[in-house]
Amino acid sequence: MKITIIHGQSHKGSTYHIAHSLAEKLGGDIREFFLPRDFGEFCMGCNSCFRVAENACPHYEKLLPITEAIDDADVLILESPVYVLHATGAMKALLDHYGWRWLIHRPEERMFSKQAVCISTAAGAGMKRTNQDMADSMLWWGVAKTYRYGIAVSATSWDGVNEKKKKKIDQRLNTLAAAIIRHQGKVKPGWKTRLYFYVSRMMQKNNMNPLDAAYWNAKGWTKKNRPWKKNP
Ligand SMILES: Cc1cc2nc3c(=O)[nH]c(=O)nc-3n(C[C@H](O)[C@H](O)[C@H](O)COP(=O)(O)O)c2cc1C
Repeated sequence: MKITIIHGQSHKGSTYHIAHSLAEKLGGDIREFFLPRDFGEFCMGCNSCFRVAENACPHYEKLLPITEAIDDADVLILESPVYVLHATGAMKALLDHYGWRWLIHRPEERMFSKQAVCISTAAGAGMKRTNQDMADSMLWWGVAKTYRYGIAVSATSWDGVNEKKKKKIDQRLNTLAAAIIRHQGKVKPGWKTRLYFYVSRMMQKNNMNPLDAAYWNAKGWTKKNRPWKKNP
């Protein structure tokens, strides 16, 4: 199993340990990126990715190792500590760079057979919204199945997390890992992804953005092909 972890911070605290432990339980090749250490650019709002091509983004080359690792993975793990009730700015800055990959634009076909996990920790609250910040992109990228795990660790470092909580986390990660392994190679996108796909398909048929429409036509998605099926 190929696993790509994107850490929403550059240090190894509670969120890192939980994400990494899950990847170890899954087994296989692990590639990981730390933000902003491995990518710290902000979207400049030039719209080149939407209007010209994804490689017209001024940060395209810098982003490429992460993009390739995302595309190559069976399982994506996105994690972020809760910062003021949301994902870190570094995580948001990365996700902003993939707007062009959303279902309404030019989604990557391989997403429709991947699983993803969004993980967050907080001292007390905000895990739901933080996971939502990341899960929104997973849905709109077309990822077939996304799990979420948020936990209030009542601490500001992994050393500060008590043993009882660590045991509870470990148990939850075992269950999560078992579910992911069970579904590996068998996932199909749920109704929400399919609904958004068909809404987008209608937009492409109306040629709302010629670049996107050309992509959809080339894939055959405006006809009978579907990204979650074996197409002729
Ligand atoms: C800038 C900043 C903002 C934070 N905001 C929140 C918050 O809104 N709610 C909360 O419960 N904890 C908050 N925390 C605490 C962290 O979310 C918490 O300690 C988390 O487990 C840290 O994860 P880490 O060890 O992976 O860095 C914040 C911490 C920082 C540094």
